[in-house]
Amino acid sequence: MKNMQENRTMLKSNIAVGLDIGTTKVCVVVAERDELGKLNVLGKGRSSSDGLQRATVVNINKTVTAIRAAVADAERESSIRIRGVNVGISGAHVHCIHSNSEISVNQTGIVNESDVKRFLEKAKTNIRYLDIDHEIIHVIPQEFIVDDQEGLLDPIGMAGTTMRGSAYIVVGLRTKIRNIKQCIEKAGLEISALTFEPVASGLAVMKESEKKSGVVVIDIGGGTTEVAIYIEGAIRYSEVIKVAANDVTHDIAHGVKALYEVAEELKINHGCAYSGIKAEEEELLIDGIEGRPQKTFPKSSLTMIIEARMMEIFELVRDSLRRSGYYEYINAGAIITGGGSLLPGTEELAHEVLGLDVRIGYPEGVSGGIKDSVNNPIYATVMGLVAHSFKNNLSVDHNITLAPEPPASEKKKTEKRDDDSGQEQNPAGKKIVERIKKFWEQL
Ligand SMILES: Nc1ncnc2c1ncn2[C@@H]1O[C@H](COP(=O)(O)OP(=O)(O)OP(=O)(O)O)[C@@H](O)[C@H]1O
Ligand SMILES: [Mg+2]
Repeated sequence: MKNMQENRTMLKSNIAVGLDIGTTKVCVVVAERDELGKLNVLGKGRSSSDGLQRATVVNINKTVTAIRAAVADAERESSIRIRGVNVGISGAHVHCIHSNSEISVNQTGIVNESDVKRFLEKAKTNIRYLDIDHEIIHVIPQEFIVDDQEGLLDPIGMAGTTMRGSAYIVVGLRTKIRNIKQCIEKAGLEISALTFEPVASGLAVMKESEKKSGVVVIDIGGGTTEVAIYIEGAIRYSEVIKVAANDVTHDIAHGVKALYEVAEELKINHGCAYSGIKAEEEELLIDGIEGRPQKTFPKSSLTMIIEARMMEIFELVRDSLRRSGYYEYINAGAIITGGGSLLPGTEELAHEVLGLDVRIGYPEGVSGGIKDSVNNPIYATVMGLVAHSFKNNLSVDHNITLAPEPPASEKKKTEKRDDDSGQEQNPAGKKIVERIKKFWEQL
């Protein structure tokens, strides 16, 4: 019996699930953490999403269907029954409030976890104004001062009598949060946490050195561009801008006079965000709408359309950085992530408009398993949600129940699909299934 419980605990603390409900796609990642603290992806699911506008749910049923489809794929790949998920939240309704806090350290005189909890609770109650339409999503400590020792990021174990400092409190509109919660519940899942998406994306793509010296993470998604500034190891400012990569596609459709889907294809296959990159002139062949004749469109004109909108995005980001008051402190420069960062020329254009050194952000700290399948900026948020779960001990034991054996006929189909895909079965997934099987046998 003792042995069984040890097994359960081991499994419990080692698996986390992230769910990113984006404007263009819903994706789920199931991962475990290896001995080196790296994320080993056991399963991933992705489905296209059309129940959101600019990162806000506008159609519950469509969103639930997309969540179910992505979860089913991730469950199949990982052989793990998903229940508790760390869900990303974003949208222009989310904003942040700085709040100060001060507490007396417990009687031992050594700061412990419950002191930190009390500190954060106090920060919540110290918010000067929060109207009834908003609720707190989460509280992120920024800086602790134990007695006169300033600038502490982790105060646990420090000796002192009082602890002061500040926290970054993320709040959002109750109704919009409720819509997300409804979607999760209707999809048969539980929320282990709601996490502000720029916080998650930042966690996935930033290196410690950048976070310390000052960096801005810019996630250009389909519907929103999220900005998060980190200085001296803590988040200082964030903003959600309502212009993003889908606007680029709309502009192309408008400029070329083509269907949105055709414009999207043009963007992905021939798009460039910076006219300073000299390319050979080319005439692109465009399908006419509903049987109208094909036509040609100069590639250089496509670049001009894309550059104009991407420039607007970076100008809005630059305004946001100036508004924040932290622009001068962003020493490391910018990390651009999200699907919008995949357009060639993005780095060059961003460098020119923002006046910062730029790199593109891919999820970091991923090992083994099906690593390559998440090695893309569009998975920065979901990988950050998984990392955030581990960082905050949010993984829960009901994440890991062996998925029921499919009926024989279904099983055949599934096996055939796996074969067809030509993908190697995930060895880490296999390992965990064996461990879970053993666990059930011991019962
Ligand atoms: N290879 C690519 N080249 C250019 N653009 C791309 C590429 N892949 C994806 N995109 C664009 O990235 C956008 C989607 O990015 P992402 O998946 O990060 O958005 P999302 O998370 O669904 O949306 P949001 O974060 O705004 O809710 C789309 O506009 C898409 O056209
Ligand atoms: Mg996104």
